[in-house]
Amino acid sequence: MLTVAVLISGTGSNLRALLDAVADPEFPARIVVVGADREAEGFAHAEDYGIPTFMVPFARFATREEWGSELAEQLDVWQPDLVVLSGLMRLLPADLVDAWSPRIINTHPAYLPEFPGAHGVRDALSAGVVQTGASVIIVDNGVDSGPILAQERVPVLPGDDEHALHERIKPVERRLLIDVVRRVATGDLDLAAVSASAPL
Ligand code: GAR
Repeated sequence: MLTVAVLISGTGSNLRALLDAVADPEFPARIVVVGADREAEGFAHAEDYGIPTFMVPFARFATREEWGSELAEQLDVWQPDLVVLSGLMRLLPADLVDAWSPRIINTHPAYLPEFPGAHGVRDALSAGVVQTGASVIIVDNGVDSGPILAQERVPVLPGDDEHALHERIKPVERRLLIDVVRRVATGDLDLAAVSASAPL
């Protein structure tokens, strides 16, 4: 059984979908802990399922590195097989990424490498594209630049604003994320092999 830690910053709707999926006894993974960099609304979903939570408030640390080392200590307590960033809106320090990659994955509301960064949906709308997408990647030390594990196109519709488009992207993200976690758990998807074969 693959054990998973999920890190969030916000509402955690994608976390909720993953929690619902892993509640199926046939699903080959379990969420062991949910962490956040702030008092995230999404903790409520973890509490619904009796999953432990931890918070490492970014604002309480002088540097990103100090914040990251506290986060790393928390992850070490739980020793998950996989870390899922599901809306964690912080760049992780390099030593934490180096310690966990390729066993750390991220969801992103755009068709990477298009529109990386914190405003993937807004940036797609500003660019006037007719389609954007959703991606699941291995986290590396760039900004949303790691090897792509799954992605799918989502149309931009006339009249879309950021909220409407993001709400259309999220169900796709959820489906991709759940499928990636399942494939990692069953061994169908070998993160180390994907990472080793990725172009430098
Ligand atoms: C998701 O769309 C996720 O991909 C995005 O934040 C949202 C979180 O939604 N993450 C990023 O943009 C990271 N660059 P949720 O809290 O409702 O799951």
